[in-house]
Amino acid sequence: MLVDSEVVKRNSTKIYKRKYHIISYGCQMNFADSEVVASILENIGYEHCADIKHSDLILLNTCSIREKAEQTIRKKLSSINYLKKKKLDIKVGVLGCMAERLKEKFLNEEKIVDLVVGPDAYRDIPNLLKEINSGRDAVNVILSKEETYADIRPQRLNSNGISAFVSITRGCDNMCTFCVVPFTRGRERSRDPKSILSEINELKLNGFKEITLLGQNVDSYLWYGGGLKKDFKNASEIQKKTCINFAKLLDLVAKCYPNFRIRFTTSNPQDMDVEVLKTMKNHKNICNHIHLPVQSGSNNILKAMNRQHSIEEYLELIKQIKKILPNCGISHDIITGFPNETEIDHSQTLSLMNKVKYDFGFMFKYSERPGTLAARKLDDNVPEKVKQSRLSEIIDLQFRHSSENLSKFIGKKTEVLIEKESKKSTSFWAGRNEQNFMVVFPKENYSPGDFVEVLINKSTYTTLIGSVINKIK
Ligand code: 5AD
Ligand code: SF4
Repeated sequence: MLVDSEVVKRNSTKIYKRKYHIISYGCQMNFADSEVVASILENIGYEHCADIKHSDLILLNTCSIREKAEQTIRKKLSSINYLKKKKLDIKVGVLGCMAERLKEKFLNEEKIVDLVVGPDAYRDIPNLLKEINSGRDAVNVILSKEETYADIRPQRLNSNGISAFVSITRGCDNMCTFCVVPFTRGRERSRDPKSILSEINELKLNGFKEITLLGQNVDSYLWYGGGLKKDFKNASEIQKKTCINFAKLLDLVAKCYPNFRIRFTTSNPQDMDVEVLKTMKNHKNICNHIHLPVQSGSNNILKAMNRQHSIEEYLELIKQIKKILPNCGISHDIITGFPNETEIDHSQTLSLMNKVKYDFGFMFKYSERPGTLAARKLDDNVPEKVKQSRLSEIIDLQFRHSSENLSKFIGKKTEVLIEKESKKSTSFWAGRNEQNFMVVFPKENYSPGDFVEVLINKSTYTTLIGSVINKIK
């Protein structure tokens, strides 16, 4: 077994660096966090290893959002078990939301796990590794009021060198009754804008072209010198006067980095205000795309979900978006089969979709999460078959809307940032336009990182197909 110091001399000539392999599940926040963890590990001499079989430390950055996500992670753990049997000194760590939810229980439930670290405790990983390398199990799942990892430069893992995530808030105060996030990621706090700008600056120097500002609820970003969002009411007058909200942050980033493409996610309807829309309109480099989860089209269900808006307010916001940003792509999250959801509630969801005609959406069956208010107070009483048939219906409708919206691009030009090779053909590039639609086109002599104007001649329900008419930059 490898002991104590993280860089070990295997023989007198060669320094052996311990190798880590990290697998991320769940939302973009989790993927961004894995890059923070990678940076912490590389700082103490670990080296990234793409091959799990040759790693000394295997980390799973986990998601708890639905039961299925947790089952996927349990399956992965049992598949890692055979590796551990072959190579006894492999250590296995569980990070992220499932670690936070299950805490020490993980060690008993999954014998293969040596290390359990919650989303706010990654700075403690070097100490925890010393513990496990001395043969002890290690757990840290303490949630923080301050932690934003502001000073840690993420180690870009599996990066295309073109687009990067930059996290701006952590945690969530919304307390939607179905959602495990407030329990696993704690209270909402914002990151110092200086550190956000300095991270973007570094990305620029490294040739990146696009950033996505990330948070569970970006529109409620609020920097008043640190601290929890919910404590802002106790801030000093000067802090209140000089605070920076999301519209201001967006404006700042767009002005400082005019050549960067800027995206953000996720927005919550009750926090998104017209200032953000105006800021998007003022800056060409902010992409016209808003991911605006609605969850249900029924006011009764929204109330039971403790969503802080009605359908009428949501539609008013959509109206404002379409008025201020006529070409804005809009996407959603919707849950089917929330407790007591009736056929009428479901038909109201379909009717909302028909009104908004979303470009894209993430659609899920309700999954009861232990500890949430819905799990404690409401009976998960919509039969699985009904959840599934309602889900299929909304997926079919979304496909129709996506196809219709995509077909409107045929014969038009759209600006694309080339990101990678198309999955379907090695002679095509793929990239997204500002509405977040995937666009594919022949490579010709263009390269990843180029901004090109593409004339669209065909569409499917997910993709636009065309050819480049012009390189923009
Ligand atoms: N069951 C199903 N979907 C959920 N989501 C969050 N919690 C649950 C749950 N318990 C969905 C919501 C959210 C997205 C990230 O995941 O739609 O917006
Ligand atoms: Fe999953 Fe939510 Fe945690 Fe992201 S924040 S990893 S979606 S549970």
